[in-house]
Amino acid sequence: MKKYCFSLFAVFLLISLSSCGQNTAGNKSLDERVSNFLKEHKDKWHDLNVPYQDGQSLYDIIVKNNYQSALEIGTSTGHSTIWIAWALSKTGGTLITVEIDRGRYEEALKNIEAAGLSPYVDARLADAHELVKKLDGPFDFVFSDADKDWYLQYFKDVDPKLKAGGCFTAHNVLNGFGGIDEFLDYVRSLKNYNTTINRGSSSGISVSYKKQ
Ligand SMILES: C[S@@+](CC[C@H](N)C(=O)[O-])C[C@H]1O[C@@H](n2cnc3c(N)ncnc32)[C@H](O)[C@@H]1O
Repeated sequence: MKKYCFSLFAVFLLISLSSCGQNTAGNKSLDERVSNFLKEHKDKWHDLNVPYQDGQSLYDIIVKNNYQSALEIGTSTGHSTIWIAWALSKTGGTLITVEIDRGRYEEALKNIEAAGLSPYVDARLADAHELVKKLDGPFDFVFSDADKDWYLQYFKDVDPKLKAGGCFTAHNVLNGFGGIDEFLDYVRSLKNYNTTINRGSSSGISVSYKKQ
């Protein structure tokens, strides 16, 4: 009986180790693919995409907090989408991203595929003014990067669907666009949010954590 149990344990151990090895190898190859894609395209984005360091900041927030259900408003051709989806590949999460322009949406699909991240992304061609209201959520991470004069409304629409402990981020808060001050004043006035500005690039990302 003892011998039988030992053999069973040994088989179990072998299977676990080999599947573990496969996962590690799989993630390693995805990491290489995404990292190479991002490096190759670093200076080639020209559709209002986030700078490389802002993509890195979004990635860090998601991984640090183990976020798993993300929403991006404003896909463009997919630079920030790729950073967010890469982070979600680490946490086991998924992303819904919305873009209104068909050409950019189609380009984004190609880029996401080329980076190997399609399984993590549900890309929608839609007007976010309408879609964001309809999405069920809940979300634990939101990145707002579409029309700046709608940031406040996006925030109000998403707030009830954002989990406690979750995070609402918004891009270009240092660029003086109309609508940003109203959004920042509002979110800073909320007692259940803690808002800081990430100054990793000159664009600035507001980072608003919803308190537990
Ligand atoms: C600043 S770009 C997004 C850049 C993208 N996050 C990146 O880093 O690659 C803003 C995008 O929002 C899209 N957009 C503007 N208004 C929109 C709306 N109402 N619904 C969906 N997308 C919208 C624009 O077409 C544009 O592609």
